[in-house]
Amino acid sequence: MCGIVGYIGHKQAYNILIQGLYRLEYRGYDSAGMALIKNNGILNVYKSKGKVANLEDEISGKDYEGTIGIAHTRWATHGIPNNTNAHPHTSQNGAIAIVHNGTIENYNILKEALIRHGYTFSSETDTEVLVQLIEYIKIKNKCTLFEAVREALKQVIGAYAIAVIEKDNPNVIIAARKSSPLIIGVGDDETFIASDATPIVGFTDKVIYLKDNEIAVINRNAPLQISSIENNEPSQLDIQELKMNVAQLEKGGYDTFMLKEIFEQANTLKDCIRGRISDNYEQIILSGVLENKDKFINANRIVIVACGTSWHAALIGKRLIQEMCLLPVEVEYASEFRYGNPFITNHDIVIAISQSGETADTLAAVQLAKSKGAFVYGICNVVGASIPRNTDSGTYIHVGPEIGVASTKAFTGQVTVLTLLALCAGQIRKTVKKETVQEIAKGLYQMPEIIQDVFKLDETIRNLSHTFTYARNFLYLGRGYNYPTALEGALKLKEISYIHAEGYPAAEIKHGPIALIDKEMPSVIIAPNDSLYDKIVSNVQQVKARGGFVIAITNKGNTAMKQIADYCLEIPEVPECLTPIVVSVPLQLLAYYIAIYKGQDVDRPRNLAKSVTVE
Ligand code: F6R
Repeated sequence: MCGIVGYIGHKQAYNILIQGLYRLEYRGYDSAGMALIKNNGILNVYKSKGKVANLEDEISGKDYEGTIGIAHTRWATHGIPNNTNAHPHTSQNGAIAIVHNGTIENYNILKEALIRHGYTFSSETDTEVLVQLIEYIKIKNKCTLFEAVREALKQVIGAYAIAVIEKDNPNVIIAARKSSPLIIGVGDDETFIASDATPIVGFTDKVIYLKDNEIAVINRNAPLQISSIENNEPSQLDIQELKMNVAQLEKGGYDTFMLKEIFEQANTLKDCIRGRISDNYEQIILSGVLENKDKFINANRIVIVACGTSWHAALIGKRLIQEMCLLPVEVEYASEFRYGNPFITNHDIVIAISQSGETADTLAAVQLAKSKGAFVYGICNVVGASIPRNTDSGTYIHVGPEIGVASTKAFTGQVTVLTLLALCAGQIRKTVKKETVQEIAKGLYQMPEIIQDVFKLDETIRNLSHTFTYARNFLYLGRGYNYPTALEGALKLKEISYIHAEGYPAAEIKHGPIALIDKEMPSVIIAPNDSLYDKIVSNVQQVKARGGFVIAITNKGNTAMKQIADYCLEIPEVPECLTPIVVSVPLQLLAYYIAIYKGQDVDRPRNLAKSVTVE
């Protein structure tokens, strides 16, 4: 949510910054901007509403010289997307420029005080307040930019990752963070800063993950200094190796990142289970669980917190853990959990699921659960992100960078890790049979091949999707393990095609939603050959009896379903608890092609951004 990139070094900053913005664009694309300092003390600031390409056009032919610069791609929080509200924001005297990701909650109070001191504001943003405050402090205290930024941040309530530069000092960038991510890339005579690692990949593999409440002084003529905002205590420089390559950040011949990521799933699931299942399928080796056996043996309850797609994975995890570990499991939206006075004790395990590892509500839920004494376990994708760094233990899903805003491969990775976790903890607790472990572990092991087989549906789904561009509403129905999959299918469709879609437990439709059924309301019904198959056949019949249009996802060779449903998408048979992984692929493809036929920008759906780092 909002992307920041900065550069200081011996190269021209522009190309690095613009490429960085393209790589960060998935975090927000309402507007973009860049500030560069020329060595003769000129600060050039360029901004443009809309996507990064517009900014590139705006700067083309203009003066973009400078070996120091900061840039930003915005997801609007305060103020509509326009040029004025776009970052970088500059201070009243035009000397200081800032880019910011986050929200400053007390900006109104600060703004009123600054107005009393004669400051005027051109934008509606909280960020402009911060840069004016920095200028005010700098002039009043006659101090350095670093001191002014540090002092200003002490007055700020909220979340921020910022980068600040000053016209008359082309040698320094000040960067700081609290509750929003910021990474420093350490190169040879050059330093990068970015909201995530993507703009840094290809330039250096040495990174420092700035911690909460830290401020960095990046001076081209002096060693990097990081210290605490609060008391200026110096921090150790913890340089880590970045394991990401440029190919992972490119579309690799696909039209979109989303399509690439859907088709990557056979491989990403291989990466996700690698080394985690023994050769004879008898042992699940999940170090985060095995190293904390006591916690899993003595737990009274598990609470899973997450948002969006990750919350859907959590609902599947609930069934898995209850079944394999005989433990009560509750699933909460992180945003509700954090303000819901949750009853948590030190006998609870709280599992936080997050692809980005940066979702503000999930991070806050983690911190709250820890403060109440729970053992907190993270299931994340982005290595080194805030959630994995704030949890007691956890497991990475290892599906590689997910750039398409709609989550696909992360969802199947999360469900896979939850399956492994349920089996591993079930083994420790002795609540799962050896044969069950073997059957499911083998099913997981074969999953990459099975998914490859499911990809053969691509053309059928593409052709079918064309029929549905007219639809204004969709219903997604499933039961048991596939009720959450239905929710996920509906979410995928609405976020990229803007067609309203509802996911429902199939049996519930007769308590209300069946009133919506008519020939213009397609229903996607998930009907694999599982323990609830006969029940869901009745639900299909109920929809058909009311003139509804049914697309059924069922197992190969199910001729009976072909007689009832209008279309059947046939998938291979797998153990019941693994069906969500297999079913989600045709659901992703269906949403994808409907959106494409409707002409939507699937990688950058309107109003959305990846990595929701604000409340
Ligand atoms: C939907 C989607 C979002 C995210 C949600 C949580 O396709 O991507 O609903 O799942 O914003 O994000 P993470 O998993 O990064 O915490």
